Amino acid sequence: MVSEYNAAPQTLCKKKLMETTLSIIKPDAVQKGYIEDICSKIEDYGLKIRSKRQIQLTQEQAEGFYAEHKGKPFFEALIKYMTSGPVQVLIIQGEDAISRYRFLMGNTNPKEANPGTLRHDFAQSIDANAVHGSDSIESAAREVAYFFPQGLSSE
Ligand code: CMP
Repeated sequence: MVSEYNAAPQTLCKKKLMETTLSIIKPDAVQKGYIEDICSKIEDYGLKIRSKRQIQLTQEQAEGFYAEHKGKPFFEALIKYMTSGPVQVLIIQGEDAISRYRFLMGNTNPKEANPGTLRHDFAQSIDANAVHGSDSIESAAREVAYFFPQGLSSE
């Protein structure tokens, strides 16, 4: 039995299955001043932002975060881009937060993203695509711990 308000990423909260996911607002969107607009859209969509902080990723942090993509043709450009300026990392919670947030983000390639999604509205290209969101319960647990090793209570 999982107790209420238990640890991320999935927990029973007031008898609803809640999830925790990690988002990164990427350098292009931070540089263009879209943080507040993106956060408003997330909250208007019924998801809660539980914590956020701005950081400048080092090469090592970016490579560790995106380790699953190492060896792919876009890896080097991705790391160069993700270290090109500050990012905002967010912990997001809500019912079905992982899949719902990915739906709100839209297609990885903004040219194929539906109107109203974050990538359609705020992204430039498949590289500079405004936001990242965890793609599974396992990824969410790893990614939240990557940027918030002491959990929410430390914020
Ligand atoms: P993100 O969700 O942060 O996860 C990996 C990132 O790699 C992805 O968003 C894109 O910004 C970037 N990327 C660049 N080219 C590709 C590609 N062909 N397929 C998937 N991701 C790509």
